[in-house]
Amino acid sequence: MAGALWSGRFQKATDAAVWAMNSSLNFDKRLYAHDVAGSIAHATMLAQIGILTPTELEAITGGLAGIKADIDSGALVIGGAAEDIHMFVEAELTKRIGDPGKKLHTARSRNDQVATDLKLWMRDELGEIDSLIRELVAVFIEVAKQHVDTVMPGYTHLQRAQPITLAHHLMAYVHMFMRDLQRLGEAGKRLNYSPLGAAALATTTYPVDRELTAKLLGFDGVATNSLDAVSDRDYVMEIAADLAIFMVHLSRCSEEIILWASAEYGFIELDDAYATGSSIMPQKKNPDVAELTRGKTGRVIGDAMTLLTMMKNLPLAYNKDVQEDKEAIFDAVDTVKLCIPAFAGMVVTMQVNAGEMRRAAGGGFTNATDLADYLVIKGVPFRQAHEITGKLVHYCVGQGIHLEELGLEMLREHCELIEDDVYDYLDIANCVARRNVVGGPAKEAVLRDIAEVEKKL
Ligand code: ARG
Repeated sequence: MAGALWSGRFQKATDAAVWAMNSSLNFDKRLYAHDVAGSIAHATMLAQIGILTPTELEAITGGLAGIKADIDSGALVIGGAAEDIHMFVEAELTKRIGDPGKKLHTARSRNDQVATDLKLWMRDELGEIDSLIRELVAVFIEVAKQHVDTVMPGYTHLQRAQPITLAHHLMAYVHMFMRDLQRLGEAGKRLNYSPLGAAALATTTYPVDRELTAKLLGFDGVATNSLDAVSDRDYVMEIAADLAIFMVHLSRCSEEIILWASAEYGFIELDDAYATGSSIMPQKKNPDVAELTRGKTGRVIGDAMTLLTMMKNLPLAYNKDVQEDKEAIFDAVDTVKLCIPAFAGMVVTMQVNAGEMRRAAGGGFTNATDLADYLVIKGVPFRQAHEITGKLVHYCVGQGIHLEELGLEMLREHCELIEDDVYDYLDIANCVARRNVVGGPAKEAVLRDIAEVEKKL
């Protein structure tokens, strides 16, 4: 602690309690590879403008590459007295190559350094999350394709409403995931501007070439205003919010899977490899993957909230508060990456009880709207058709029968325009098949939708 790289103006060592609070090494160590990449670009630029000699540059880049390789292999363990990963790498470099190492931080601050590191890390993680969500979409589509004829009830207010298919239901989630991909992709583009060269807050007196470091690191350009460049955490807040929205989608699906797997629904049975048991009740098979996904959604929402709250009162430019961004965004990213593979496995292996879904779709008068529509075709105004159908439903409820079990006589008592073709109209599978407009549950409509999504992927 006495050896902090900024200790020159201090007469006392940092108190241990302050050190414990101030140090971020324990969590920002995962930025080491990106820190090394940022430093190599910075050093390359410094050599370009004549601040480092070619020999010094060679020593620095060689030293940094060695540090990265040793951390990768486990030969070098991150730890010890460094305050954060930036200090750790710099101290280790100087230990290895001597004086040239001490020149690396010329024209740079940890403020532009950490912002650069975090953006580079975020970019890599966005790539991984993008692939994971694409795999999840592929799984949902695979299962949907098997169930374009699997009729189930569609719900509103969790009351049976109109018949749909399982494919149609799963594709609803696919569309949510497609928007998640789009949101995260856009966030990735927005963040891709380099903070390097902004230094502490006001750039530097050295003629740094910010475009060069930006280019070397694969940024699309420079984050121009230096105050903004070092204090901007929009990308962290935005991506955390995008991940929270994604988790809300997974969580809604989790809720349904939990319900569907219950004996009360009996729509699905989870594979043994994707369920867990009880320590006391031998018969139990619990949907823990869905429950944990639903539960962990709270964490990710919390991470997004942490970041927004952390930022909301910060005066320009850098404040140490923002060091807190890392644990929150790391947690959000880790949680999402933990949930997706388990969730995808659960969905692709679940057994669908098509008979039970079909039975449920046949109850609850899910064909009542279709009867009203039938009457409209026969010339009855819709409001009146609604009333007539409602009365018939009421009668059926009393009798404990379905609409299609009503005799023609009884139907015609309520509306004499009803003919024998009504039974065809009331058939649940036909109710689905007739909804063949864009976005509807009819087999052709769902297959068209699947094809379009597959094209976009
Ligand atoms: N570890 C800090 C962070 O994560 C970077 C260091 C900035 N420190 C400073 N004294 N300006 O934000």
